[in-house]
Amino acid sequence: MDKLVIEGGSRLTGTVEISGAKNAALPIIAASLLTPDQSVIDNVPALSDILTMIKILRGLGVKLQMEQGRLSIWPAKFTGFSALYRLVSTMRASICVLGPLVAKKGIARVSLPGGCVIGPRPIDLHLKGLAGLGAKIKIDHGYVVARAKRLRGKRIYLGGAFGSSVLATANVMMAATLASGTTIIENAACEPEVVDLANFLVKMGAKIKGQQTHTIEIEGVKKLHGAKYRIINDRIEAGTYILAAAITKGEVVIKGACIGHLGALVDQLRGAGATIKNTADTIYVQGTNKLHPTQMATLPFPGFPTDLQAQMMALLSVADGISVITEKIYPERFMHISELNRMGARIMKEGPSAIICGVAKLSGAPVMASDLRASAALVLAGLVAGGRTEIARVYHLDRGYDQMEQKLSRLGAKIWREKE
Ligand code: EPZ
Repeated sequence: MDKLVIEGGSRLTGTVEISGAKNAALPIIAASLLTPDQSVIDNVPALSDILTMIKILRGLGVKLQMEQGRLSIWPAKFTGFSALYRLVSTMRASICVLGPLVAKKGIARVSLPGGCVIGPRPIDLHLKGLAGLGAKIKIDHGYVVARAKRLRGKRIYLGGAFGSSVLATANVMMAATLASGTTIIENAACEPEVVDLANFLVKMGAKIKGQQTHTIEIEGVKKLHGAKYRIINDRIEAGTYILAAAITKGEVVIKGACIGHLGALVDQLRGAGATIKNTADTIYVQGTNKLHPTQMATLPFPGFPTDLQAQMMALLSVADGISVITEKIYPERFMHISELNRMGARIMKEGPSAIICGVAKLSGAPVMASDLRASAALVLAGLVAGGRTEIARVYHLDRGYDQMEQKLSRLGAKIWREKE
């Protein structure tokens, strides 16, 4: 197993280029199952989660080839309909093959994802949505089995206790493209990744209106065709580098970042004292010597993304005063608190909130990554901490950050990978 080693204290400067969005690529790869034709997806990041999705499709009998960010997919002859526990348990996003499989093959058998370190992650909204379209759903020996001759369009309300659901919206939207009649998804998620999936489906011949809003209308068609598509860049990766620049009081240009995807983060950082400017596809960040504390909550888009909560907490741990972050998407997503505290941060969990008493300095320490975004938070803390930080279980980072240590090294960070 690899670990990341960081010698803290370098101020980041220069330009960093953002990769394709993992959370757009995953459902888009699954959507390619809706046609027998070849699809070609560009800007696919080289991440272990993408590899897992490729393995799931290969397991179904789909031919795929990845070459320098271009993924070619030939689903012509696939006959499989099962996504096995061995793969699904390593990546919950595997659930997004459920909708395309039942719509295209009339049957899907997908392992229930099981527990997750960021808290309970039920799939009831996925099942409610597909059942609403007429699928017969059964839980059988740890698997969801969904069957339907042809799905039927319907008005479906997709809200749960924590609001809209990104992948449930994706699943129902994908399934509805081939249903008879019209589907209306109310309380749909409108994250940029959902919009990107809708745009890909439209390129395949789907009839979709209202993506980017909370009411998406899908008029079913008899068949879809293959498409060539370039996925959007990763707003969470961009946000992580913006925070890396801010925490090191650096000056960084983030290339390939869309400010329209990062409004809540930019607003928070300006409030904290950082300077942020933008052009059409770059964001310039200049850190400040005195970071102001803040009170904030994570929310569905365009609110502050839960996927940047841990990284923002790392920043606020060195702000000048007391901040509060309330996690309104995953109230248990706070595994990073104890590790940040091991580096000298002063953070307390109080229900779904974290109270962060800013400290003047963090100190490098051996720490353990617990999930993808928690790992990114520890990297940010390591960049600003005095001395050496060693982050174990770095495979979490490889799920979602393309060449993170190379990108940070080019900005002047002292970071490298070692065998544990
Ligand atoms: C997506 O997960 C992302 N994953 C997550 O990114 C992200 O944290 C999350 O959306 C929220 O933005 C991908 O896109 C692959 P949700 P998803 O369904 O769709 C509850 C990362 O670090 N809920 O929008 O699975 C749920 O428990 C990852 O890249 C139900 O109650 O998340 C949560 O409280 C981690 N029932 C809320 O909805 C359901 O059936 C939102 O979750 C489904 C979800």
